[in-house]
Amino acid sequence: MSRTPTTLEAATADHGLPDRYTERSTVDRAELNEALSAAINRIDDSLEEFYDRFPSPSSQGLTYTATDNIDGWTASFWTGLCWLAYEVTGERRFRDAAETQLETFQRRLANGDVGTHDLGFLYTLSAVAGHRLIGNERYRSMALSAADLLVDRFLEAPGLIQAWGDHEATDDSWELGRMIVDTMMNLPLLFWASEETGESRYAAIAETHARTNAQHIVRPDGSTYHTFKCDVESGTPIGGETAQGYDADSCWSRGQTWAIYGYAIAADYADEGAYAQLSAKLANYYLSHLEDDSVPRWDFDAPAERDIRDTSAAAIAACGLDELARQLPLADDRVRGYRNAACTTLGSLAENYSTAGLDSNGLLTDGAYDTSDGDYDECCIWGDYFYVEGLVRATEHWSRYW
Ligand code: GLY
Repeated sequence: MSRTPTTLEAATADHGLPDRYTERSTVDRAELNEALSAAINRIDDSLEEFYDRFPSPSSQGLTYTATDNIDGWTASFWTGLCWLAYEVTGERRFRDAAETQLETFQRRLANGDVGTHDLGFLYTLSAVAGHRLIGNERYRSMALSAADLLVDRFLEAPGLIQAWGDHEATDDSWELGRMIVDTMMNLPLLFWASEETGESRYAAIAETHARTNAQHIVRPDGSTYHTFKCDVESGTPIGGETAQGYDADSCWSRGQTWAIYGYAIAADYADEGAYAQLSAKLANYYLSHLEDDSVPRWDFDAPAERDIRDTSAAAIAACGLDELARQLPLADDRVRGYRNAACTTLGSLAENYSTAGLDSNGLLTDGAYDTSDGDYDECCIWGDYFYVEGLVRATEHWSRYW
């Protein structure tokens, strides 16, 4: 099953928005409010345990252990949860925890543990959010340092930000010249840096990467590759592969949601209608392949008898669909459909996948970090973050951190 890549301009083939989402959502706002209160209480219960340490990326037996912010891509999701809890409750203890955690992000920059495209995840939910909420100049300068490091990973000839590994390697490693769909959610750091500094170069790199992603990672049917490698000297496309999905040509559902949300945000920063249309096409593929309870299997092409779900993908999708609805013109018929789909997803997560009543320090069951490592059916800290962001989006007037 080999599918030819598409371009941003030629992104036309479309699954359409499934009918079930064009009807009014039956999810009651009171239910979502209740789910948000329960989630904030759970964050409060964990505040002392983690404080300036961080929940492990995924749980074991639904329990996260405490880790240090020295490597990996997930520390900021805990900080983001603390900022959200601070915004919702106004309680100073959540802000104090987030600010204490910010010191570990400063140390990480100083220690150089930052050779990854994940700088966007790491410094948007910690430093950009901190700067947006309390105007701290030191947080602004940390986030700009992270943006500079992310820019360094941009490879001119293929027009992409290399995801993993040494981007200056002279031997041809697997990582060299490889982009991944997840990076779409690291671009907001660059768009923000351009807005803050007035320097267009950050946004120009973000836009180039977004277009290269549309060309090589997005397929004509609106599904996505997880990774795609290009020659770093000539820019010639080499081919797609997966790292966390079922196989090279399958569609890893979490990757699909990183792209839905990433293009919806790019549409806002770049004021580019084509990004919103591409986000909609990706969303239509995603919504057309969901299970009845609006939570996807971890990979849409994995054999059906292995019914492993990924609630973290559903939580990211809920935020991405809500953002997409905000980026489309109000008169667009799909706006209501994407809002309904976001609410229906959140309602299903709250009803069917909440850890309420279970012995757990996480929020959502059935996250799938990496099925090939046996890491599934657990809480994932980014899934918990996007679940709470989605609930905040659905119940409050909220300004994005991204
Ligand atoms: N960015 C890594 C993941 O989604 O698992």
